[in-house]
Amino acid sequence: PEPGWAENTDVIVVGSGVAGLTAALHLREAGLHVTVVTKVNIDDGSTRWAQGGIAAVLDPLDTPSAHALDTITAGVGLCDPAAVDVLVTEGPTRVRELMRWGAEFDRYPDGSLMLTREGGHHANRIVHAGGDATGAEVQRALHAAVRRDPWIRLVEHALVLDLLVDAGGRACGLTLHVLGEGAEDGVGAILARAVVLATGGMGQVYASTTNPTVSTGDGVALALRAGAAVTDLEFVQFHPTALYGPSFGDQQPLVSEALRGEGAYLVDGEGRRFMVGQHELAELAPRDVVAKGIFRQMRAQGVDNVYLDARHVPDLSRRFPTITASCLAAGIDPTGDLIPVAPAAHYASGGVRTDLRGRTTIPGLYACGEAACTGVHGANRLASNSLLEGLVFARRIAVDVAADLPPQAEPVAPVRSGGFVVDAAVRHPLQRAMTAGVGVLRSADSLAEAAATLTELSGARSTPCTETWEASNLLTVASALLAAAARREETRGCHWREDFPDASEDWRGHLLAAVDADGRL
Ligand code: SIN
Repeated sequence: PEPGWAENTDVIVVGSGVAGLTAALHLREAGLHVTVVTKVNIDDGSTRWAQGGIAAVLDPLDTPSAHALDTITAGVGLCDPAAVDVLVTEGPTRVRELMRWGAEFDRYPDGSLMLTREGGHHANRIVHAGGDATGAEVQRALHAAVRRDPWIRLVEHALVLDLLVDAGGRACGLTLHVLGEGAEDGVGAILARAVVLATGGMGQVYASTTNPTVSTGDGVALALRAGAAVTDLEFVQFHPTALYGPSFGDQQPLVSEALRGEGAYLVDGEGRRFMVGQHELAELAPRDVVAKGIFRQMRAQGVDNVYLDARHVPDLSRRFPTITASCLAAGIDPTGDLIPVAPAAHYASGGVRTDLRGRTTIPGLYACGEAACTGVHGANRLASNSLLEGLVFARRIAVDVAADLPPQAEPVAPVRSGGFVVDAAVRHPLQRAMTAGVGVLRSADSLAEAAATLTELSGARSTPCTETWEASNLLTVASALLAAAARREETRGCHWREDFPDASEDWRGHLLAAVDADGRL
């Protein structure tokens, strides 16, 4: 639809999690007027659900090169070493800055930071807050800092639709739909001199995910429609331990790796520690190794879950209040009972391709956080590197934007309208098809079956409104993810092909996703 109204700002930031709000704060430091657009409420994204923490070298005995080595090992040959170097060397400064902005992390009585460990780390380097409520504290602090600044305009309840570009192809704004308004009156435009996508992940393409309901890949879908390079979508990270239960709806409660970092171990229904012997770090192996270990165990025994034994973890309910509360709500007392867990979709390691300054392949369009693919995660993200990546690359974007900001240009037209919208009812069948065919374990057959379902669902056309635009974004990113998973005929990191069980040097590269003028892959 044509925008019915328009307003101006210097920079639009889309998304209000760690990456978006950090970008907004740094852009303000550079004296720019910022408009933050978020789909529902400012705190509704994934950041506030993060439990374990932020990985950063804050212990004098730890080193950035050790953090880099763990990150690159977890990424199984696909990390960009220059991006990893930026992450681990700038990370500690960004974490200290976050503390200056008001975030309070857990400390020992002598005032030193408590540091814990998670899968794939060979050192204790993870800061946390409120025990296992790190994301909530990060979100609280950033939210408060943003609210204190009258020059950050916050637009809630607005779904971004398409990128606006000027005659030279540079991003100069966005169209967006105000939730609750009709598709005619509710579509407007914000014009800007630069656009930052920080829209988070796409976990809602799966039936079982730790992501909140807003994580529908809107930024990646917009970037695909605009023709920006999008890469590594097949590398969906499945968190090994989401709380298993029949009735959690669209978001599974997370059971943090930090629980294993503090001594909990995985057992099968007969109480056997099945990860011992599979990897030198056993339950604390990188996330893909543990997720695969659990999946194999479940398949061998024909069961839907395994268990975490945390009964011996000291001070369990005080150290892990969020997990304790989720368990108790499900009728499980983690101090006396085993915790039923199973893998669930957790993190998109891929996204909109950026360089080290957060620039996408479209001039004036930037991306950071889970929506971006900066190169730090490769084929599998290391635990607790995601909040860190948001902090580090959001600031780099602000520096780049401030250094080179052209005057506002006139848009020529929305880059693309997305071609068509599909019925909102496709959401659940799409999620089931993706979990069945493009989940932890994939094969040519399972991928073909999921592809047939997505093709069928794409025929369910509808008229534009919030739910149909969101369902269309899900279909776009699910189709791109599926195509990449089908194309990559090897097993690497969190992409596990039953029919190609080994990693191959031929596939040591990145797959780009693209859509044509009708929004088709
Ligand atoms: C967790 O606490 O296990 C999640 C941390 C992460 O996703 O990095």
